[in-house]
Amino acid sequence: GRPAGRAGTAYPVPHERPRRLRGTAALRRLVAQTRLDPADLVLPVFVRDGIDAPQPVSSMPGVLQHTPDSLVAAAREAVDLGVGGLMVFGVPREGDKDGRGSCGLRPDGVLNAALRRLRDELGDETVLMSDLCLDEFTDHGHCGVLAADGSGRVDNDATLEVYAEMAVAQARAGAHVVGPSGMMDGQVRVVRQALDDAGHQDVAVLAYTAKYASAAYGPFREAVASTLRGDRKTYQQDPANRTESLRELRLDLEEGADLVMVKPALPYLDVLADVAAVADVPVAAYQVSGEYAMIEAAAAQGWVDRDRMVLETLTSIRRAGAQVVLTYYATHVARLLGGPR
Ligand code: PBG
Repeated sequence: GRPAGRAGTAYPVPHERPRRLRGTAALRRLVAQTRLDPADLVLPVFVRDGIDAPQPVSSMPGVLQHTPDSLVAAAREAVDLGVGGLMVFGVPREGDKDGRGSCGLRPDGVLNAALRRLRDELGDETVLMSDLCLDEFTDHGHCGVLAADGSGRVDNDATLEVYAEMAVAQARAGAHVVGPSGMMDGQVRVVRQALDDAGHQDVAVLAYTAKYASAAYGPFREAVASTLRGDRKTYQQDPANRTESLRELRLDLEEGADLVMVKPALPYLDVLADVAAVADVPVAAYQVSGEYAMIEAAAAQGWVDRDRMVLETLTSIRRAGAQVVLTYYATHVARLLGGPR
């Protein structure tokens, strides 16, 4: 029969009361399905050649371009707080850039020198990842070399040869994981083979599997002093597409990816969930510079609570299926989560 109405009314009382499990902080903690752990976070860091003190990145308040010394200190702090890994980006001197990104290949180039230094200081205490891409190192700012015909298009296969060399240089410098982020077709296979041929079978490949041509990389341009004019729409994915990411996933897995990543994170949680549902390797997501900058800008205005936004967005990214999250907030979150839980 009908449940009895509330005394004095004709309306039915609820059959079920989901609110019961929300009543206290302890209950909510007990039944939480998603937790944040600093060990799942990776801190992206920037090291810049030719500076004698760390430089703030104005588009990313709180983020620095590091000197080698300040980089080591920031890495040490993150590692001691339990952060799971570091993703290192190099920013060369303007005059060192050329059409082929040569300074990204040199053992004494800013990125490789920083990797060597970090590996010396931290050994296997953390996971050292390196961005494997040419955009920071080319004078034109594209992620690959340009076609010889002067069309301005990025030459996929010519770029692969450079990536192969760069992967080996980064492995020699001490990277545990290389992250090819340029969205060239076939990049994972070429990088894997180059590493194997050079005796670096143990160096893993984090594939930027679904990488969309996003406005959310805007603030990063300043962080790496990018010279790019135009966009990357002929090699990064169209935000309108969803199943294309499953194709990219299939290819990256066939080519030997050890981990796969979706980027950006928050506007692409559907893609992340799709990838996580079928990938049989760990799935990462990258909360990119624009996602960071949006939170910072709103928080600075007092329009949102920074820490709550940070924890909520990262929880959402984990809930959608990311096991590992790259975030500029990694150290901050490790500190927030620190202490008795
Ligand atoms: C390419 C690269 C980019 C980012 C990471 N790797 C820039 C781009 O693709 O335009 C962006 C990361 C961020 O915005 O935080 N090397």
